[in-house]
Amino acid sequence: MIGIVDFGSQYTRLIHKNVRSLGVGAQIFPSDVSKDELEKAKLQGIIFSGSPASVGEIKFDENIFEINLPKLAICFGYQVVAKKFGGKVEEQTAREYGRAVVSRSRESFDDLLFEGFPQESIAWMSHGDSVTGLPSQAKSLLTSEGRPAAFCLEKSQLWALQFHPEVAHSQEGIRLFENFLFKICKIERSIEAHLFDDLYEKLEKQLKGIKEVTCAVSGGVDSTVLAVLLAKFVKVRALFVNHGFLRNYDQSDLEEIIKKYPNIDFKVIDAREIFWNELRGVSDPEEKRKIIGKLFIDVFEKNLPQENFMLAQGTIYSDVIESADNPNAPTQKIKSHHNVGGLPPGIKVKLLEPLRDLFKDEVRILGKSLGIQADFLDRHPFPGPGLSIRVLGPLEEKWVEIARKADSIFIGELKRRNLYSKVWQAAAVLLPISTVGVMGDGRTYERVLALRAVTSKEAMTAEATELPWSDLKEIASMIVNEVRGINRVVFDLTSKPPATIEWE
Ligand code: XMP
Repeated sequence: MIGIVDFGSQYTRLIHKNVRSLGVGAQIFPSDVSKDELEKAKLQGIIFSGSPASVGEIKFDENIFEINLPKLAICFGYQVVAKKFGGKVEEQTAREYGRAVVSRSRESFDDLLFEGFPQESIAWMSHGDSVTGLPSQAKSLLTSEGRPAAFCLEKSQLWALQFHPEVAHSQEGIRLFENFLFKICKIERSIEAHLFDDLYEKLEKQLKGIKEVTCAVSGGVDSTVLAVLLAKFVKVRALFVNHGFLRNYDQSDLEEIIKKYPNIDFKVIDAREIFWNELRGVSDPEEKRKIIGKLFIDVFEKNLPQENFMLAQGTIYSDVIESADNPNAPTQKIKSHHNVGGLPPGIKVKLLEPLRDLFKDEVRILGKSLGIQADFLDRHPFPGPGLSIRVLGPLEEKWVEIARKADSIFIGELKRRNLYSKVWQAAAVLLPISTVGVMGDGRTYERVLALRAVTSKEAMTAEATELPWSDLKEIASMIVNEVRGINRVVFDLTSKPPATIEWE
């Protein structure tokens, strides 16, 4: 377990995430924590965060820098340490915010923290004050435009950095955390251990005295992991809405998992008619999404318990980032995600979103630690509006049925050919155009199906996966032979951007 002392930086939670993403437990301590308290916490290393304050503006126990453990001080921590050990810190007229190039000193090649770093790399800075003179005992490790950017006080097991390794723009940030945790603190890499300590602790508090929670489940990984997690604490009423645009296997795969947990009561709401009544004939993608978003809430509302209850949703960190309205980064709406609208005002419900701080890969690890089978946890993402946005042109039952059959062959074959796990997401999209073909000496005039398979990390960017030609050709031929209504199959080679993963 690593301790993080929070001096008030906006990035403290990012430090926490970086450490956690490497499978190491971390606990955040307030800035007024004492040396004694840190010593009692059985830590294997300590990280000191940055701060909006200048050195001297906040009071804390300076003895914490003398604890006999490896320590990493970032930005404000760097300046405090420089000053405490005899260096010089000054306010600079030219402040440094954003991108900087840091270069290694010759001494850094003997240092574990920078092992594997290139001679020069991009690091992210955000500071007004600067260290203009290092403590006499310090070994200079990095510089930025001739000024010190990192040093080490070997005797004190203390490393100090002017930049922020925790932000994604710092090129070697993850490597630096790995070096600190595994090479310097000598923590053993164990993906599951401690990763979810604070999640469990928080849930225990939130669910104190609660006997039952209603949980919205979609058949996807996040909400299923959530339902299983909650079932460890309380009785779970899992609500699953069938809107008519599910794939052949969505409900049955979910049922297969859920039935293993007697504490989960699985309820399917068959809302196919309600959705079809409003979606039949609709072709505009935004209109489809808006109708679905609204109907989801209507249907859901009608099926919630009458009184005082708690509603759990499987929102994860990337959902939060994507829907965050950051005034400094105005974003254009690309698609209205069906589940971002929130619940209508007036519903008296306590919302529980325990996975809000986790990334997808962490949710998968959590699922694994709960005993959920790996092939379910590795399933590709599937959009809430389902096949309705994979059938282009006016929606009709017969087209959705064709898309469903094609999907089933495509996904089934990817699995059978051990290609499924090489792809981040795959989709079969039915296009609203017909082309001429010839089958058994006869002319056909039928629809085109586009296959999509992408590699991605967070769905923000994606690239077409290079699937073997031979497999693609065989799958295309199976689809045309087995699905009436399709006579041509194409493969989508576009990346995101400029395209998106889904076609609508
Ligand atoms: P795009 O198509 O924008 O999709 O590149 C990025 C990821 O989001 C999924 N997606 C959705 N998921 N509700 C969801 O729950 C939606 O309305 C929705 N639209 C797109 C998409 O499948 C991909 O994984």
